[in-house]
Amino acid sequence: MAREKWGTKLGFMLAAMGSAVGLGNIWRFSFVAGNNGGGAFLLLYLCFVILIGVPLLLAEVSIGRKAESDVIGSFQKLAPKTPWYLTGFFGIASAFLILSFYAVVAGWAIYYFWNYINGSFFTSPAAGYEGAFGQFISHTWQPIAWTALFMILTIVIVLSGVKKGIEAANRIFMPLLAVLLIVLAIFSLSLDGASEGLKFLFTPDWSALSQPSIYIAALGQAFFSLSLGMGAMLTYGSYLKKENKLPSATLGIGLMDTFFAVISGIVIFPAVFAFGIDPSSGPPLVFITLPSIFEQMPFGGFVGLIFFFALVLASLSSSVSILEVPTAYFMRALGWSRFKTSVLMGSIMFVMGIAVSLGFGVWSGVTPIGDLGILDSMDYIASNILLPLGGLSMALLVGWFFTKSQALEATDLTDSPVAGFWHFIVKFVAPILIVIIFLNATGLLSAIFPFL
Ligand code: PHE
Repeated sequence: MAREKWGTKLGFMLAAMGSAVGLGNIWRFSFVAGNNGGGAFLLLYLCFVILIGVPLLLAEVSIGRKAESDVIGSFQKLAPKTPWYLTGFFGIASAFLILSFYAVVAGWAIYYFWNYINGSFFTSPAAGYEGAFGQFISHTWQPIAWTALFMILTIVIVLSGVKKGIEAANRIFMPLLAVLLIVLAIFSLSLDGASEGLKFLFTPDWSALSQPSIYIAALGQAFFSLSLGMGAMLTYGSYLKKENKLPSATLGIGLMDTFFAVISGIVIFPAVFAFGIDPSSGPPLVFITLPSIFEQMPFGGFVGLIFFFALVLASLSSSVSILEVPTAYFMRALGWSRFKTSVLMGSIMFVMGIAVSLGFGVWSGVTPIGDLGILDSMDYIASNILLPLGGLSMALLVGWFFTKSQALEATDLTDSPVAGFWHFIVKFVAPILIVIIFLNATGLLSAIFPFL
């Protein structure tokens, strides 16, 4: 059977933007920024997106397009008889880790959407939004049921195929989300505490930069938000036709993703301060602030309904790209149908999601890493370690294993004025930075260079 292809280049771009823009921009960005001091974090994150993220995005998509295979097959094809294909196993492991918690948080978003449909979140519930949210996520089976619903939707899109499922869904989701977020940002800026929130987001507290953890957090956020290092972009790239040019497409994806992150910061932090919420309250942050904003808005119930609908769509357009990574691989490797593969992979992720969900209830004392709960631990391993390692490996493949002219040809940069610059970044800057940030996080850097 011939390998599937996107209908148009725009279809690919929308799908890739759909993959990038998701819970990472709204939910994850705001709580990680809140935990890491706000402004200084934002600045580092932006530096990493520009210096590492966008150049590597181009590298990752080009690997897929050149090899026309999945995350493991592509490395086997381009670098046969080398250990490079192990990158693909990391990618598949990340896909399982990420989607199992992603589906839980997206399940919360569907639950919120439902509460706006039936009107129960139009005004603050008796326990307040904070209390209502706490009660909901600690319930034994309710959040799991919403996670199941989200997983089913994800599987249905993936089993419908690349063009008829993934591409078609993204054509509707993306424009809607953009309009909504801009309207919300304008409203949030008109709230009383807005200036304090903006100060938190846009005035770097330079002392935060002395914490090694902020670098790894910003790097992980850049990778997570750009869907980088796992093979999602590689797999999407593998459905491109050779005549579709990459540099402008990847730059567009990077810009769009960053725009959505900054806008959601502008929506959320003014409200966090206006409503006296602790910016470092972690994963629940947006689920408490957003309904509080909506309640104050004219037609807030309607806005909340549309917002959570858009958030669910944005999550879906990302989750399909995560499920597509193992689906594409196992379909080819085992010769299974798309239907069977996506249902099976999605079900395994759902079962893992049950553990994540219970981590907010009966298993709330379980802390696999340090004081991190189940969700945070899985997120930490996948986003802060596996994704940057995947990115490092892809940078080394394109920067060192390929000759310069092969790398430029694969990325359509041969005649570009930025060719030399891009190649320098992928060959030296990105790998060195990633390694330094890792060493720094483990404390090894200051052990080797005590003067730092
Ligand atoms: N980028 C997505 C988001 O921001 C999440 C994601 C991570 C998707 C990794 C694919 C791969 O929500």
